[in-house]
Amino acid sequence: MTRILMVCLGNICRSPLAHGILESKLPSDKFKVDSAGTGNYHIGSAPDPRSILAAKSKGLDISQQKCRQFETSDFDEFDIIFVMDQSNYDNVVKLARDDSDKRKVKLILKHSDLSESLEVPDPYWGESKDFDDVYTLLDTTCDTIAQQLLL
Ligand code: 4NP
Repeated sequence: MTRILMVCLGNICRSPLAHGILESKLPSDKFKVDSAGTGNYHIGSAPDPRSILAAKSKGLDISQQKCRQFETSDFDEFDIIFVMDQSNYDNVVKLARDDSDKRKVKLILKHSDLSESLEVPDPYWGESKDFDDVYTLLDTTCDTIAQQLLL
C-alpha cells in the first residue's frame, strides 16, 4: 500500500480537490489518499462549497471529506506528502523529526509542466472560476503523478 497525503493551509479548498482527484485515478487496493491542513481553522468541516461544486461539475464527489489538521504522526502514516505551496512546505517541514520525514514532503507542482509557478494559488478569497482553474491544474498534475505511481 502506498500512502499519499495532500496538504494545504485550510484543508477546505485545494487539498480536498487534490485528494479526491488523485484518489479517483488510483486503484484503492494499492493506494491510500488523504488530505490535511496545516491550520486549525476549519477542523471537522466539509470542504468549501465552491470546491465541492467545482468537483461536482467534473463528476467528482468530495462532499463527504472532513477537514483535519496535519500532525507529526502523519510522517509515519504516509509515504509521500504533497504540499500546495511554499508556505505549506515550510509549515510541514518545521514539524519533521529527521531527514527521512523531510524527504517525504514535495511541492505538488514539481510534477506539472502546465504551470510556471510552483504554487497552487489559494482560491479562498477568489471566485468560482478560481476554483475551476485550481481543479484543472490539479487534474493535470495528478494525471502525471498517477502515471508515475502506476509504473
Ligand atoms: P486552502 O484555502 O488552504 O486551499 O484550504 C484556505 C482556506 C481557508 C483559509 C485560508 C486558506 N482561512 O484563512 O480560513
